[in-house]
Amino acid sequence: MLAAIIVAAGSSRRLGFDKLTARIAGVPVIVHAVDAFQRTASVTDIVVVARADRIAEFNKLLGGVSKICGVVAGGEDRHNSVQAGLEQLPESTRFVSVHDAARPLVSPAEIEQVYAKAQIHGAAALTEPVRDTLKRVGSDLMVVESIERQNVYAMQTPQIFERTLLEKAYVAVGTNHQHVTDEVSAVQLLGQKVLLVENQEPNFKITYPRDLQLAESVLVERARQPTANR
Ligand code: CTP
Ligand code: MG
Repeated sequence: MLAAIIVAAGSSRRLGFDKLTARIAGVPVIVHAVDAFQRTASVTDIVVVARADRIAEFNKLLGGVSKICGVVAGGEDRHNSVQAGLEQLPESTRFVSVHDAARPLVSPAEIEQVYAKAQIHGAAALTEPVRDTLKRVGSDLMVVESIERQNVYAMQTPQIFERTLLEKAYVAVGTNHQHVTDEVSAVQLLGQKVLLVENQEPNFKITYPRDLQLAESVLVERARQPTANR
């Protein structure tokens, strides 16, 4: 059984207005993300984690999504929100997929691909190789040094784990007072290996206003060239 936790309790500070209800091709960002999991055959349950003051709003927005088994309150940081989602999982859940509500372009085919690898390795995550040359800079934006780009990957979601593994990882996060920005970082604390799955398709997070337009153009292009997998 694969359950999905969709984290949607952020504040959209960098965008400047709420990104989860911003519309792409007429549909709110969070609805695109949740709908991808609704359409994924292996997913049985979906937990949405929202800010406490938005639970009623999201319940209404996602009212027609049959796999939703709860919209619960998140926390101050993303990892607090994931932990809140873990507590809401049905007893029977064996694998859990964590996904950013702010990534509306994920597809059922990508979710199934990551799940297949997680079933073999216990932990797998969607990713893409970094393509630009990387530099570390000072607070004045002066270049300090180069960062070797070979074998450097940018992490995306979904990230899928055996439920017991992810639960243990978040206990370790609490015990070690760690600040983690994704689940792979949490699982790394246990020394567990994680397999990365290279994504060939755009799956960027909506962060800045231009991302909404970019995502819209990706969806327009996909509608023009539909594939069997979407
Ligand atoms: N998120 C969350 N709980 C938090 C912080 C973030 O559930 N305390 C979620 C966001 O809603 C988003 C995902 O984690 O779906 C990735 O976070 P990010 O893109 O950083 O979104 P925001 O935190 O909302 O944006 P910003 O950092 O610009 O404020
Ligand atoms: Mg954030």
